[in-house]
Amino acid sequence: MLPMHRRTVFKFRQAGIATLGSVKIRILICICIALTLLVFANWNSDASASVLGWTGDVASPDGSVYPRGRYAIVMNTWKRYDLLKKSISHYASCPRLDSIHIVWSEPNPPSDSLKRFLNRVIQSNSRNGHQVELVFDVNKEDSLNNRFKEIKDLRTDAVFSIDDDVIFPCSSVEFAFTVWQSAPDTMVGYVPRMHWVDEKVCSKDKYVYGGWWSVWWTGTYSMILSKASFFHKKYLKLYTERMPASLKDYITKNRNCEDIAMSFLVANATGAPPIWVKGKIFEIGSTGISSLGGHSEKRTQCVNKFVAEFGRMPLVPTSMKATDSRNVWFW
Ligand SMILES: *[C@@H]1O[C@H](CO)[C@@H](O)[C@H](O)[C@H]1NC(C)=O
Repeated sequence: MLPMHRRTVFKFRQAGIATLGSVKIRILICICIALTLLVFANWNSDASASVLGWTGDVASPDGSVYPRGRYAIVMNTWKRYDLLKKSISHYASCPRLDSIHIVWSEPNPPSDSLKRFLNRVIQSNSRNGHQVELVFDVNKEDSLNNRFKEIKDLRTDAVFSIDDDVIFPCSSVEFAFTVWQSAPDTMVGYVPRMHWVDEKVCSKDKYVYGGWWSVWWTGTYSMILSKASFFHKKYLKLYTERMPASLKDYITKNRNCEDIAMSFLVANATGAPPIWVKGKIFEIGSTGISSLGGHSEKRTQCVNKFVAEFGRMPLVPTSMKATDSRNVWFW
């Protein structure tokens, strides 16, 4: 869709240049066309999936629908029921969502009133006979590794891993999902991070973790955080079975860096960089740890610990971005 869009725009621009000499008029026309495209694109964006009327569902031999063109949300949450309710209420309305798995690591199981509320929300959002499935994955142990536990009988290949405090418009999630479908071995998401070699340590390769500002400054990244990313469900299995136990213990003890570990795992398996999708992001809770001091030193320690465990640095830096054409000015 993007190349066609570009071509159309390019043709329009050519026509403008050929017939009208004045620079001012040309600029004016460009702005008019851009505005028209923008209005049209926004009007069209949420309807596009249903206009096409195809969600990629494939009927399996027993007559049930196998949701190949859908994705599952795996949401990590911790004692923030208002956020959880807001978040689930929002995502339940997204058109190609198949199921929601809530990773539950609290000492007490989810309350009946919470379950009732969420089930009601999901029922009221069911459409075209498709009902989103809601599952609480209740864990005995409280560990950040829980969010990457293998989910038996997950119907979709695509997992959208998300924290309970970030909200993306459905159209933006759809776009990231489409990008993921074109590269299903890759991690595709909204929150990029960077690593680089520490110049101060000459003797050995030591690395530094770079937060959002270093991505902003350099335009490159090597990780996509699992607080908002698509990946293939096979990586849950890989994380559960292959991730060294010492590394998992480190994550449980330090209550940090499971997202960096997942980036390492995928990069180690693919030898390729992830894909950053630029999208609108709305945080509905206070972000907590990332704004506290010392956070980035801890993350740097994690990176170096993981490099030692993997025996090499698997992350691959890149500057490629996938940009939703609907949110972009062409000139
Ligand atoms: C990393 O990749 C190597 C080579 O493919 C593989 O043998 C190893 O198991 C992988 N490590 C993890 C933790 O997946």
